Amino acid sequence: MRQPIIAGNWKMNNTIAGTKALLTDLIPLVKDAKAEVVVCVPYTNIAAAGELLKGTNIKLGAENVHWAEKGAFTGEISADMLVELGVEYVIIGHSERRQYFGETDQTVNARVKAALAKGLKPIICVGETLEEREGGLVEKVLVRQTTEAFKDIDKDQLDNIVIAYEPVWAIGTGKTATAQDANDTIAIIRGTMAKLYCPKCAEERVRIQYGGSMNPKNASELMAMPQIDGGLIGGASLKAVDFSQVVKY
Ligand code: 13P
Repeated sequence: MRQPIIAGNWKMNNTIAGTKALLTDLIPLVKDAKAEVVVCVPYTNIAAAGELLKGTNIKLGAENVHWAEKGAFTGEISADMLVELGVEYVIIGHSERRQYFGETDQTVNARVKAALAKGLKPIICVGETLEEREGGLVEKVLVRQTTEAFKDIDKDQLDNIVIAYEPVWAIGTGKTATAQDANDTIAIIRGTMAKLYCPKCAEERVRIQYGGSMNPKNASELMAMPQIDGGLIGGASLKAVDFSQVVKY
C-alpha cells in the first residue's frame, strides 16, 4: 500500500569525482530493489548525478530549496533550478538546517509550498532534540512541527510528500531509536496527519521514514515495524555497499 522509500542524504560530502565513483558502484547494487531509492546530493553534484542516474531506478534529490521563485537571495537555489536538472525529491527542514541555519517551522512550510508548486516532492524532516525528549516534549514538538509544515497544503498533495522522523540525538551519533520507539513515535506523526487530513489519508497516502544512524545492521529491524515506511540515511549512504544493504534491508 505505502511503497517503502530509502533515501540517502549525502549532506556536505563528495565532489563531482566522488559522486561519479559512488554512483557507478551503487547503480548495479540496487537495480533490483523493491523500495523506491533516492539520493539527495549537494547542489554542485546534481548535474553529474543526474547524467549517471538516467535510465536507472535511482531517483535524484536535493538537500534544500529556497521559498522564493527567484530574486535577490544571494547563495540560494530555486525550485525551477532544481527541476531543470531533473531533481525529483528535496529534503526540507533537516535538523542541521534548523540547528545551524535558522530554519523555522514557518520557513519549512514556505519551502514545502515552493517545492510543490514546481512539482518537486518534499521530504519534510521532523524530530525532537535530546533535551526535548528528556523533558517529555516529544509529542508536543512533533505535533507542532508537522502541523506547521503542512499549513495550507492541500490533501491532493499527500502522495507527493514524504515525512522523515529524525530524532536529533540519533543523527550521526551511532545511537538509534529502538525500532519500537521509532515505530511508536512515527505513530504520533501519523496520528497528527490523520487529524489534519483524514485517517484513511494518513494510513494509505502518507509515507514516513525513520532517520538517525540507520545502517545495514539495524535496517531490517526498523523496516519490519508497521509504521516505518523507509529511511533517510546519512553516514551509511556514503558507501555504496552499506547503502545498498540498507536499500535491500
Ligand atoms: P546519520 O545516518 O549519519 O545518522 O544521519 C541521518 C540523517 O541526518 C539523515 O538525514
